[in-house]
Amino acid sequence: NSGLTLTDGTTIDDLIDRDMNEVSLRVMNDKELYEVEMERIFARTWLLLGHETEIPKAGDYVMRDMAEDNVIVSRDRSGEIHVMLNVCPHRGMKVCTAEAGNAHAHRCIYHGWAFRADGSFIGAPIEKEQMHGNKRGKDELGLKKAKVHLYGGLIFATWNEDLPFEEYLGDAKFYLDQLFCRTDSGLEMLGPPQRFVLPCNWKIPGEQSGSDGFHTLTLHRSLMEGGIMGGTAESIYDTAPGMYGVDLSVPQGHTLRCLEAAQTFKMFADVSFEGKSVEECLHLLPPPGITKDLIPQLFKNLSEDQVKQLATIPPQVGGMFPNILIAFIFAPRADGGASGALSLHTYVPKGPDRVEFVNFIFAEKDAPEDVKRDMLQNAIWSTGTSGTIEQDDADTWPQIMRNSRGHMSKTITLKYQALHGHERPEGWVGGGDLYPGFTKDDTQWAWWMAYYDLMTRA
Ligand code: FES
Ligand code: FE
Repeated sequence: NSGLTLTDGTTIDDLIDRDMNEVSLRVMNDKELYEVEMERIFARTWLLLGHETEIPKAGDYVMRDMAEDNVIVSRDRSGEIHVMLNVCPHRGMKVCTAEAGNAHAHRCIYHGWAFRADGSFIGAPIEKEQMHGNKRGKDELGLKKAKVHLYGGLIFATWNEDLPFEEYLGDAKFYLDQLFCRTDSGLEMLGPPQRFVLPCNWKIPGEQSGSDGFHTLTLHRSLMEGGIMGGTAESIYDTAPGMYGVDLSVPQGHTLRCLEAAQTFKMFADVSFEGKSVEECLHLLPPPGITKDLIPQLFKNLSEDQVKQLATIPPQVGGMFPNILIAFIFAPRADGGASGALSLHTYVPKGPDRVEFVNFIFAEKDAPEDVKRDMLQNAIWSTGTSGTIEQDDADTWPQIMRNSRGHMSKTITLKYQALHGHERPEGWVGGGDLYPGFTKDDTQWAWWMAYYDLMTRA
C-alpha cells in the first residue's frame, strides 16, 4: 500500500473516509485523480470489450476502447481472438479507421505500414530499399497487444500481465456462470452495441452499478406507477417488497442483487414456488431468456447448486468492477409467462467529465428467433440508450457531475452509511460477502473499497 497524495496535499483518505463511510463529491471531478485511475485501475483490471459472436469469421474485427486507448478486436485465420492497440508504431496514426469489418490485414493510411489480424507487422512499402528495420527487427514493429480472455464468449482484455482472469472474477464466478455459461451454445450478441456519450465522470454510473437498489424505488418509480414495467404499483411501498433478497459483493468489487424470482414476478402475476422441485420452478417461471426447451441444458452446464439458485433467487442486477453493469431482468408476456432482457453496459471513460455508455444486448444462441426478437425489444425499451429505465439514469448522472464543479458543492460528501454488515443466509452455497434482506449500501461501499484498494497500490 503506497497511499495516494494529490499535488495539493489531499490524500485518498481525505477523499474516501473509511470511518464515516463517505466519499467526497470532488472525486467525480478531478483531473489528477482521473490520470491515476487510468494507470492504476484501467490499465490493471480486465475490461469488457464485446462478444465473440460479433466477429464469427476469420478476419472479422470491431473497434473498441479500453478507457481512452482505442483497440482493434479481431479474429485471425486460426480463429483466435486478438486485442491490439489501434496505434501505428510508426508515427502514431490510427491503423484501422472503420468501426467494424473484415480484413486479413490492416494497412495504415499514413505511410502504408501493414499488420496482420493478430497484430504482427507484415511490412512497409518499398521495403527492399531497406527503408525500415535497420535498427529494429520486423518482430518488434507489430501492434501492441493486450492479454485476452473469453468468458462465456465475452471478450475481456487487460494490459496487466499479472492478473489471471480467475483471480479477477473470484467468488463472483459461481453467480456469473448462471448468466453467461448456462447453455450448450452460449450467448449471442444481438446486433452491434448501442452507444452514446454523457457529460459525467465514469464513477457516477460505475458506483451505481455496485447494485444501488434504492434508486429503483424512487428514480425509476414512474415505470411502476405508469404500468410500463407491467406492474400496478401506486406507492413506493408496493414496490419495496421486490427489493428483498440477497445482495452480495466480492473483494474484487463485483456485486450482485439476487432477488427471489417468484417474489419479483408477483409485481406482474401470482406465482408461488411453495413445495415445488427446482425443475418444476423452472418450468413455472423460466429465468429471463431461457425457454422450456433450454431447461435441460441448464442441468448439463451448471452445478446443481447453481441451477437451484438460478431457478429460485437468481442474480438480476449488479456490476463487475470497474465499469460493467449487469441487467438480467424479467419482462412479463401477455400470456402470463416471462421472457426477459439480458444486457451489459460498460461505462468507458473519455476524460474526467465524459463517459461513453455502451449497451450490449444478448440472448441464448439456441433460443428461437421470436424469443431473440423479444429479448432485443425488451432490452432496447428498458435498458437501451433511449430506454425507459436509462432515460432516468442518463438525466441524473450529468446533474451530479454539474454539482461536482461548484466550489462549495465539491465539499459535500456522498453517504454510504446504510450498512448492515454481512451475514450468510442458512443453506446459501455461493461465496462472497452476503447481505440478506432489504437493499442497502453494503455492496456500493464494497465497490468503493475495491476502488480504494487499487488506487493505493503503487
Ligand atoms: Fe502508420 Fe506511418 S503512421 S505508417
Ligand atoms: Fe438506474
